[in-house]
Amino acid sequence: MNDFDWAAMADMLEREGETHSPYVRQAFEELAHLTPRRILDIGSGPGVAACRLAQTFPQAEVTAVDGSPELLERAGRRAHRLGVRLRTHVAEFPEGLADLGPADLIWSGQVVHHVGDQQDALDRLAGLLEPGGHLAIVEGGLPPHWLPRDLGFGRPGLQDRLAAAMAERFSRMRAELPGTVAVVEDWPGMLRAAGLTDVRSRTFLVDHPAPLADGPRQSVRQALERHRKTLTEDLDAEDLATLDRLLDPADPAGVDRRADLFLLTAKTVHFGRRGDSRTDSRTDSRTDS
Ligand SMILES: C[S@@+](CC[C@H](N)C(=O)[O-])C[C@H]1O[C@@H](n2cnc3c(N)ncnc32)[C@H](O)[C@@H]1O
Repeated sequence: MNDFDWAAMADMLEREGETHSPYVRQAFEELAHLTPRRILDIGSGPGVAACRLAQTFPQAEVTAVDGSPELLERAGRRAHRLGVRLRTHVAEFPEGLADLGPADLIWSGQVVHHVGDQQDALDRLAGLLEPGGHLAIVEGGLPPHWLPRDLGFGRPGLQDRLAAAMAERFSRMRAELPGTVAVVEDWPGMLRAAGLTDVRSRTFLVDHPAPLADGPRQSVRQALERHRKTLTEDLDAEDLATLDRLLDPADPAGVDRRADLFLLTAKTVHFGRRGDSRTDSRTDSRTDS
């Protein structure tokens, strides 16, 4: 695994998963006509989507797979709390993927970009599918927006500068991954190159308007705390001071109290299907690319 301390982010990931669940629900509606027997959630983290998969497909055996045993314990506890059947499996990607298959449906949310060779990861995921099986990966979409352009203090436009700094950090993260391979991040093209057919992408909005309820508000706080911690070298002193003020629980203009805080983002899900005859679909798509 790369140098993220995923277990330390457990609270944030679970809260964020809950806050973003409107897009997961919409994405699963796209899959609701399927009758999968075996489902894998690759990089499940604390299991928010995995538990929803188990609710959506109660007949299926759903396995949450992740490199972090701590996050999988959380996923197990969440499943118990919700009364759904969920298996868990610790595996490092990409090497641990080989032991998992086969599956009729594979979901992987915001994980492939953490693997050095993204095409190889997709090839391996596609290779786990049963003939006719489906893969859905979440990659791309739009950066989140939480703040009005002018907060009433600090330099207007902080949200855009946070997004730009995070994009730079993301590029550095990718460059430092073991075995990193540069690739044109054409996700539908990459799914086709992995031998999948019926490839399509759909983008779902997550829209929590102001004033925010406690759950999304807490999620915004956790995200801003993480930005404050990770972007210390990337933001100027004025923006860091603005973030400190936003994060001050005693400040009436801080994120705990402001009435104008919102959460607006979009997530893109790329769907593909393994052809019934693997050899044919693979040959066709490789010739196209
Ligand atoms: C950004 S979180 C996504 C969690 C969840 N899928 C979601 O959409 O909210 C990435 C997850 O992938 C896992 N992960 C990242 N890189 C990994 C690797 N190389 N091997 C195994 N797990 C990895 C992390 O432990 C974490 O749970």
